[in-house]
Amino acid sequence: MNKNEAIGIFDSGIGGVTVLREILKVLPNENYMYYSDSKNNPYGDKSDDQIHELCENIVNVFIEQKCKAIVIACNTASAKSAQYLRQKYADIPFIAIEPAYKMVYDYAYSESTLVLATKGTIESEKFNLLYHTYDNHKTILLPCVGLADIIEEGNREKIKKYLKEHLELFRGKVKNVVLGCTHYPLIQDEIQEVLGEVTFFNGAPYLAKHLQEVLEKKDLIHNNNEKGTIQFIDSSNSEQKKKRFFEILEK
Ligand code: DGL
Repeated sequence: MNKNEAIGIFDSGIGGVTVLREILKVLPNENYMYYSDSKNNPYGDKSDDQIHELCENIVNVFIEQKCKAIVIACNTASAKSAQYLRQKYADIPFIAIEPAYKMVYDYAYSESTLVLATKGTIESEKFNLLYHTYDNHKTILLPCVGLADIIEEGNREKIKKYLKEHLELFRGKVKNVVLGCTHYPLIQDEIQEVLGEVTFFNGAPYLAKHLQEVLEKKDLIHNNNEKGTIQFIDSSNSEQKKKRFFEILEK
């Protein structure tokens, strides 16, 4: 592995930009190659085998491009395929996002908690292990079928309508909200509007720290003082996705 090479980062679409945003705060000088698999999204309701295959295709692109590490910036892909990918591609480090449920255990254990994630994440073995290990017995797990899709589309009216229909019943009843899908931090304000005063838990800042530790340990930090580059690849070649991705990053 060469420290000058890029870090590959992927999601089913542009949601992983919320992870890259946190990574850039910690590692601004690295080069990044972001892969948005919008041709195959949503991932949230696909089978384990389908997700394994989609992830493998993306990992092969990163390997061809000689990436030195891979960030799985999709909770669904991470829940279903992180272990599979680590076994299959043992030479490359994988850093995988997960819903920040342990942080609730660490910082706000006694408060009622709402975990928002895709159906795939909530039903996965990996998430269930995390949930049962840190269960505060005041937690509601809510699979948000179709939500990532409308965030990806970027239609504010549809998003507001969805949140009103699915979240309003929890208003005043929950204090913690785990954003268990990388698309959801993009609508944090809208969620707050429906739920009222809540504390958000997002796994991305922890992943960023972990990525830094992994690179340091493997002596893979890019030692230069200049801002790195960010390359965006979208599997359906959408110029509109590219535009939104960079707009969000530059905000
Ligand atoms: N952003 C993804 C996640 O974190 C997946 C959304 C989807 O494609 O269903 O789970």
